[in-house]
Amino acid sequence: MNLVLLGYPGSGKGTQAKILSGKFSLFHISTGDIFREAIAAKTQIGVEVSGYLSAGRLVPDKLVLEVIKTRLAKETRGLLFDGFPRTVDQAQGLDDYFASRGQCIDAVVFLDVDEESVVGRLGSRRTCSKCLKIYNLLTSPPAKEGLCDSCGAKLMLREDDNPDVIRRRIGVYKDQTEPLAAYYKGLGNFYPVKGGQDPEIVAAEIAAVLKNNVK
Ligand code: AP5
Ligand code: MG
Repeated sequence: MNLVLLGYPGSGKGTQAKILSGKFSLFHISTGDIFREAIAAKTQIGVEVSGYLSAGRLVPDKLVLEVIKTRLAKETRGLLFDGFPRTVDQAQGLDDYFASRGQCIDAVVFLDVDEESVVGRLGSRRTCSKCLKIYNLLTSPPAKEGLCDSCGAKLMLREDDNPDVIRRRIGVYKDQTEPLAAYYKGLGNFYPVKGGQDPEIVAAEIAAVLKNNVK
């Protein structure tokens, strides 16, 4: 099974990807995480993409598709895409790539959350600097302030989670990523889920959608 999670910045893609990849044994691919790791490691790709992430703009499609193809070259597990594709060109690039491997996207799950909620969520998000576990200071805080419950490492505020860049990311989403909903509706594999509910309920609804629609 190959699955795409689609939705606003802060809609819960990363949170759901962590739950669902465990539940369905899928390989979780977050292009945002890949780029942040590359920036931290100061690789060539990290240097190239750093300015895009800090400004909240999209990394060019060609580079994103190259990174994805390199990651997937030897991967045989089912895939769970989080934050990719993000433009119609990326979606078409992924379709072409999958066609060459005799594969397809089985379901695109859209996490439906309103704009004001995601702005609030992103301002209070913290992420573990080591294992990348996602927290929220208001709704899912760590047991010990500033430290990850799972691995004890420090929690960090993402550089792009400041009010100006959050607004830019939402604008970029509306301009460049929202058209993907029509693209996937046209392909007949688009499933909206109410993303404002408790994360475990959202995950259960996604699991039900997959059970009922993916063979
Ligand atoms: P990326 O890392 O993908 O960021 P994003 O799309 O902006 O999404 P976020 O990671 O901010 O949110 P999320 O939906 O994962 O929500 P989360 O689960 O964390 O991309 C970052 C940048 O990289 C882009 O701006 C771009 O520059 C570049 N990039 C990445 N991919 C690219 C691509 N394909 N093409 C071009 N450029 C690309 O949850 C958010 C908060 O809400 C957390 O605090 C969480 O605890 C809380 N929360 C989650 N679920 C719930 C719930 N159900 N109820 C209440 N709170 C919840
Ligand atoms: Mg994320």
